[in-house]
Amino acid sequence: MSPLFLLLTLVVFFLSFLTLHSASPSTTGGTILVKGSSTILSENATFRLGFFNTNGDSNWYLGVWYSSVPTPTYVWVANRQHPTRNLDTSSFVLDGSGRLAVKQSENETVWESTNTEFSTEGRFLDNGNLVLLTREGTVSWQSFDHPTDTWLPGMNLTKVRFLTSWRSFSDPSPGLYSLRLKPPDFGGFQLVHNATEVYWSTGNWTGETFANVPEMTIPYIYKFSFVDPFTPTASFGFTLRPLDTGLVPPLSRFKMDYRGQLQQYTWSPQTEHWDMFWSQPESVCRVYGLCGSFGLCNSSGVRPCECLPLPGFEPVNHEAWESEDYSSGCRREIESSCEGNDRFEGVGAVRFDGAVRRSFSSDRKGCESACLEDCACFGLYYDVSSSLCKNLYGSLLNLRNISDSVDGEEVLYVRVARGGRIEEKRKRFHLLSLAIGITGSVLVLGFIGVVSMVLIARRRKSRKEVDEDGGFPILNLKVFSYKELHLATRAFSEKLGHGGFGTVFQGVLSDSSTIVAVKRLERPGGGEREFRAEVCTIGNIQHLNLVRLRGFCSENSHRLLVYDYMPNGPLSAYLRREGPNLSWDVRFRVAVGTARGIAYLHEGCRDCIIHCDIKPENILLDSEFTAKVSDFGLAKLIGRDFSRVLATMRGTWGYVAPEWISGVEITTKADVYSFGMTLLELIGGRRNVEAPPSAKGGGAGVGEKWFFPPWAAQQIIEGNLVAVIDSRLGGAYDTEQAKRVGLVAVWCIQDEEAMRPRMGMVVKMLEGVVEVTVPPAPKLLQALVSGESFCGVRADSGNRVSSGGGFYGDNMAIVSSCGSESCLGDVPSPANENVNA
Ligand SMILES: *[C@@H]1O[C@H](CO)[C@@H](O)[C@H](O)[C@H]1NC(C)=O
Ligand SMILES: *[C@@H]1O[C@H](CO)[C@@H](O)[C@H](O)[C@H]1NC(C)=O
Ligand SMILES: *[C@@H]1O[C@H](CO)[C@@H](O)[C@H](O)[C@H]1NC(C)=O
Ligand SMILES: *[C@@H]1O[C@H](CO)[C@@H](O)[C@H](O)[C@H]1NC(C)=O
Ligand SMILES: *[C@@H]1O[C@H](CO)[C@@H](O)[C@H](O)[C@H]1NC(C)=O
Ligand SMILES: *[C@@H]1O[C@H](CO)[C@@H](O)[C@H](O)[C@H]1NC(C)=O
Ligand SMILES: *[C@@H]1O[C@H](CO)[C@@H](O)[C@H](O)[C@H]1NC(C)=O
Repeated sequence: MSPLFLLLTLVVFFLSFLTLHSASPSTTGGTILVKGSSTILSENATFRLGFFNTNGDSNWYLGVWYSSVPTPTYVWVANRQHPTRNLDTSSFVLDGSGRLAVKQSENETVWESTNTEFSTEGRFLDNGNLVLLTREGTVSWQSFDHPTDTWLPGMNLTKVRFLTSWRSFSDPSPGLYSLRLKPPDFGGFQLVHNATEVYWSTGNWTGETFANVPEMTIPYIYKFSFVDPFTPTASFGFTLRPLDTGLVPPLSRFKMDYRGQLQQYTWSPQTEHWDMFWSQPESVCRVYGLCGSFGLCNSSGVRPCECLPLPGFEPVNHEAWESEDYSSGCRREIESSCEGNDRFEGVGAVRFDGAVRRSFSSDRKGCESACLEDCACFGLYYDVSSSLCKNLYGSLLNLRNISDSVDGEEVLYVRVARGGRIEEKRKRFHLLSLAIGITGSVLVLGFIGVVSMVLIARRRKSRKEVDEDGGFPILNLKVFSYKELHLATRAFSEKLGHGGFGTVFQGVLSDSSTIVAVKRLERPGGGEREFRAEVCTIGNIQHLNLVRLRGFCSENSHRLLVYDYMPNGPLSAYLRREGPNLSWDVRFRVAVGTARGIAYLHEGCRDCIIHCDIKPENILLDSEFTAKVSDFGLAKLIGRDFSRVLATMRGTWGYVAPEWISGVEITTKADVYSFGMTLLELIGGRRNVEAPPSAKGGGAGVGEKWFFPPWAAQQIIEGNLVAVIDSRLGGAYDTEQAKRVGLVAVWCIQDEEAMRPRMGMVVKMLEGVVEVTVPPAPKLLQALVSGESFCGVRADSGNRVSSGGGFYGDNMAIVSSCGSESCLGDVPSPANENVNA
């Protein structure tokens, strides 16, 4: 290494908050900004710039990523298509011609910036933008003008600046999917496959939002700006809005995913996850060409693509397929042979794109032989009633199974080889794998043996430790053995229900003949010690309106909780038209009782517990129809797999307290919001997402799923409570009480956290201790449902609600300190001060 190099490198290290001054134009080497594994931080250290590789191979890319995020998240890549092969000799320089360059070695440039003006200075801004300035201080080149797959706040997309996905999760080279301004009018965006096939569109700009993206009205984190829409100079960008709380806005970005979805992420410091709040198309199976030719898409699988389930079909490129680049698709193994004795196999009713069809009238036999005679023909449709034959050529994209949804569709037949070869090959394969299997098993068994011995030794040790601890400090919690509970529940045979955290079974304790509810936790996270500590906290919390934990079991991988049994079941059972009815008196007691239970969690116990999953499924009724809140404190115990839950929650923001999207710390006000939603369901005697109450309902077609809260809120504010209240009550209700419950519900679902009352105040308002004023209309809700595209989403979320899987807040109870301002803070007054108790 030359002394000059060394010197320059040192200089760069010292100037790592860089203002990159170039050496004079005559210096051939230029200024080295990054060499080998050294990196540079942006001005306030939000981003880092340097070389990275993605899967341990020898391809090195010069890129930008978040410096504070533990999972590497690359937002820009310079040499997408031309990786360097050796990290030690790779460098990033401001070269002698005033351009940025990525060099594989001293005299091998793999990438260069495209500025024409000579630049003397580079700056790495804290928004992630790498900027080159001329001597006059004007921008001659910036990385924000050359986006890759990520759209950051401050970056504008234009006719010539668009996002292009990576090729696969580990290959930054340009993939097939892009987000671009829609030609020819440039009044909106579209997602495009291979620059030709449009598979999703934002719809036209309406002045404030795009027609198909009603979520944009949520004002929480972004400010969007569209300069010159509907002209060739159109430029669209977004910035982060300063938060009302004065806190730093969360890290946030849009990404054109390699699987063709446009996704929006916000970093949650609470969970150390990128939470995805929005993505389009909703299902990956709506992405054009995702699985390639002869690939079948299944959105519920971890890997969405598989080859047609017919003998002889396999991925064209196994390696690419493994790295989740499915675009090359599948092929018939013996395609080239084109034998006359091929046969046809039905794959059910499917829809697809891409194939060329040749139609003619013929009988079935003629249809088949016409296809067999032509090596290029891969399959056929045959319609018996009209004797119409369609032979198919080319590629078979976007296969969608519609067998379940449509009757009488034509069945697709695909050509496969008859017998012989494949079977023979399979047999050989089987023998081979058998041989591998046997050798493998011996090894595996040996390995298992060693591991279990180690484990047993460990377990002995940990048992001992627990015993030495003196077991369990809480006396009113019983520790059950798994065998005991297995017996009590008759081998877990009497299922009471299934929630977000696990399945609940009825059981009878052998010693006391008491009936209990046993909750078997799924995906238990954390160790035994954490579990015990958490159970201890929950067990210590006792209140008339909280379900009592009697005991638990923690044995091997089993984690079970034993609760008092609630004979009248969950509130949700009474919110169905066909279901049993609750009198007004009971409903009112349930409203007040639930509020008291939650208020106790928030304000009454030592640690402030945010439930995060308030909904009718989690409000149980005892023999006297007293409301008992269940499942509190559980999420913390399970571990927080935030992203998964949020991913299933896409497009249903209306159900979750809107501040959740901002990634700021969740407070007790999130529970208040969910409680408000629950109150609406309670007085309406219905679920928030279902068919409209009657013809006069809020503007949705009959038979369509419909989002109740915005309409109900409007009626309540206008004093038209009668329209909202459950008709099954037949008018038998206390008008004053009902009015209070309605108004409180609307106060609880206010957009702004600060506008929602504390739970303690909610109790007082419901009890009539303080007078309740008329709240303003929750605007976000209204906005969310006014967008046309929301219809589909509504139907979708309806299914989720009724499945009882707990899609709001599944895994997210958070214990925070009660002393914190966010727990207790309260701003405007939904109640009149003068009547204070
Ligand atoms: C960097 O942080 C300081 C202190 O927080 C702040 O005053 C300054 O505006 C920030 N600069 C940039 C470019 O963000
Ligand atoms: C760079 O170029 C010089 C002369 O052109 C040559 O001698 C040297 O081998 C080259 N270095 C590499 C690493 O290719
Ligand atoms: C994006 O557009 C806005 C509004 O025209 C402009 O102020 C800003 O400088 C642009 N950003 C970049 C990085 O060009
Ligand atoms: C993409 O388009 C190019 C040029 O139009 C074409 O050659 C190529 O086959 C296409 N690739 C796919 C996967 O459709
Ligand atoms: C969007 O705007 C363009 C240009 O004004 C118009 O031609 C087109 O019909 C609009 N599309 C929709 C769906 O309204
Ligand atoms: C889709 O994937 C899920 C989960 O892997 C599986 O249970 C289901 O059977 C698959 N469906 C089809 C049609 O292959
Ligand atoms: C489509 O679904 C039907 C019914 O579920 C099934 O019998 C058929 O095999 C499926 N077809 C494909 C191509 O997966």
